[in-house]
Amino acid sequence: MRISDRIEAAVGRAVQSGLGGMAPSRLSATLDYAVNPGGARIRPTILTSVAMACGEDRPELTDVAGAALELMHCASLVHDDLPCFDDADMRRGKPSMHRAFSEPLAVLSGDSLIILSFHILARAAPLGADRAVQLIDVLSNRSGMPNGICAGQGWESEAKIDLSAYHKSKTGALFIAATQMGAICAGQGAEPWEDLGDQIGEAFQVADDLRDALCDECTLGKPAGQDDLHGRPNAVATFGVTGAVKRFDDIIAGAIASIPACSGEAALAQMVRAYADRLVPANARTHNVVPGE
Ligand code: IPE
Ligand code: IPE
Ligand code: MG
Ligand code: MG
Repeated sequence: MRISDRIEAAVGRAVQSGLGGMAPSRLSATLDYAVNPGGARIRPTILTSVAMACGEDRPELTDVAGAALELMHCASLVHDDLPCFDDADMRRGKPSMHRAFSEPLAVLSGDSLIILSFHILARAAPLGADRAVQLIDVLSNRSGMPNGICAGQGWESEAKIDLSAYHKSKTGALFIAATQMGAICAGQGAEPWEDLGDQIGEAFQVADDLRDALCDECTLGKPAGQDDLHGRPNAVATFGVTGAVKRFDDIIAGAIASIPACSGEAALAQMVRAYADRLVPANARTHNVVPGE
């Protein structure tokens, strides 16, 4: 089965496991709305690719881990779009959760998805209790305080933002979770995989800043020009378009060089390169005017 098919099936099963019983119907509907149709599913794709590169021996566990990571990511987007954060009306080409349902349901939907992500990992214990506990450890570490998404979003309430700490925890954290969880699923140690996730995450954020500055809402499926609008520090404001593209290329080269020795090293390097080529908008590479100059 293709990686993308495995991920869609696993995410579908995860959402189903959060439905049923006496649950309220509108909140139930938000779970699917938050997760489907998905975006690029880049985090579970990286997780699965790393597991395969490490000699994946329990694919069912990989699939649960990928789904848990994607649920966490989708939850973070639902909360991120709320009026108290980015106040975004669109996400993945459709109304954001609070616009389609309501603010209370968007808060509860994000909360439910976060809790569901840990629940499905806990319930995967029969596939390897030691690995399931490690997966919960890594996902919680990279979602909360002090190293995870909560910390990242928290930087936006500081008077002065440390760009590197902000990006590392807001965006990089779930990429580190992706590489480390992939290794854990295959019974390997998580620690050697931190660098790769960290660098992919940094490159991803630079590319996201380029897309935010250079693409329109229609292409992105979410509001464009948000970094400038909210006065957020970003790679384009700091380095200009050309500088940001160069930074992206340098980070990707470093990421590929940092792949730990494993049986599927070459295939993994190829996958990182293929994804990298798709991340930067085409007009960034032909852009020769640095904004502000
Ligand atoms: C968007 O992530 C949020 C950031 C961390 C910048 P993605 O671009 O991976 O979102 P989807 O899942 O593909 O929509
Ligand atoms: C969203 O970051 C990242 C998290 C929710 C952790 P952004 O606000 O920069 O991303 P978009 O542009 O809304 O996808
Ligand atoms: Mg935000
Ligand atoms: Mg946002």
